[in-house]
Amino acid sequence: MGFRYENNELYVENIKVEEIVNKEKTPLYIYSKSYFKKQFEKFDKAFSRKHCVSFAIKANSNLSVINTFAKLGSGADIVSKGELFRAIKAGVDTSKIVFSGVAKTKDEIEYALKNNIMMINVESMDELYSINEVAKNLGVKARISFRVNPNVDPKTHPYISTGLKKNKFGIPYDEAYDSYIKAKNLKNIDVYGVQFHIGSQLLDSKPIYDASVKIAELMKKLEEEGIEWRAVDVGGGLGIVYDNRKDTPPSVEIYAEQIEKAFEDFPDVLLVFEPGRFMVGNGGILVTEVVYHKTNSNKNFIIVDAGMNDLLRPSLYGAYHEIKPLKIEDKKKIVCDIVGPICETGDFLARDYEIENVENGGYLSVFSAGAYGFTMSSNYNSRVRPAEIMVDNDTYKVIREREELDNLIKGEKI
Ligand code: LLP
Repeated sequence: MGFRYENNELYVENIKVEEIVNKEKTPLYIYSKSYFKKQFEKFDKAFSRKHCVSFAIKANSNLSVINTFAKLGSGADIVSKGELFRAIKAGVDTSKIVFSGVAKTKDEIEYALKNNIMMINVESMDELYSINEVAKNLGVKARISFRVNPNVDPKTHPYISTGLKKNKFGIPYDEAYDSYIKAKNLKNIDVYGVQFHIGSQLLDSKPIYDASVKIAELMKKLEEEGIEWRAVDVGGGLGIVYDNRKDTPPSVEIYAEQIEKAFEDFPDVLLVFEPGRFMVGNGGILVTEVVYHKTNSNKNFIIVDAGMNDLLRPSLYGAYHEIKPLKIEDKKKIVCDIVGPICETGDFLARDYEIENVENGGYLSVFSAGAYGFTMSSNYNSRVRPAEIMVDNDTYKVIREREELDNLIKGEKI
């Protein structure tokens, strides 16, 4: 299930995408509920031992999306008070929530402790002392894990690499042992586990295996110091196919096998996962209307109504997203830049892209837009954010209304 062409027209599950677009207009995010469910089940079934899948809601934090996963038993990986608020509103079991992020404030820590989440993934000693203090004031013991930076190259885009020495994330591997010993001696800290996350869009399973082995070694040493591990959180990062000519991510089964192997000496420790992109990336599209065509000194432009404010990935990372017309008519192909309405040269969805020419008023689908699409959108150039639609078989729901002009000035005063 998900997205497919039938008689040269794009369908999402059992609805023609154009039918939705005619009613709901563009730009428009459309998600496939059955795709989301299938991905969760695939991930969940790949592991043979005790585990917890905590969907990284930064990838797609619409309440209905989070709720779809929560109903299947998913927890949530959160990185802010706002994400915890969303997870709770969406019905996530708080005992399956893990909290990462380098700058958790005391207010955020308090909110997390009051909601009794599984654990806080601590990213510095300063943060650990803050957690201890907040826990003391609340009269509780805070369950924590350190986010350990294993210094392994994930071989992905530098902006989404997180597990290298030079990155701001986690505590250095070489300091982790001492940090745990210090944490163990704090009265209001319960050392619960260890976490690592080396990067996103991983297309090779070796770095994650290498990092897992390093973490397991650290766990063994600390076990000798009396630490009783209850959870090991492997983070997220499993890559997906954006470009089917190039991207070959490991299968989730291989990913699972390698991780289980690395942690085989800890069979009773709960394995926690924080997948984001894998769950939702290929379960969403962004539909945009062709507004104009133009040619400047031999370069063709297709100008569309979705821009970097709606989908930032091409501009920020030079990311590739496949783009196709909703209706394939076997017209002549052109090579062009597909650009948005934003007043920035960096506002493009694709560059030097070969595509069947679509007339003004026609529609294009930007694929693989379910992860880090809407969540990274903004109101730049005072453009309203698009609506989000969830399709379930042959029906659909607007799960977030298109913004109106009043949304743009909410809270502002003259
Ligand atoms: N856990 C932690 C601690 C993370 O920082 C992330 C992603 C995840 C889990 C989920 O990773 P995933 O399974 O989705 O790869 N905006 C970028 C991606 C940034 C990822 C940030 N952290 C993009 O559009 O590619």
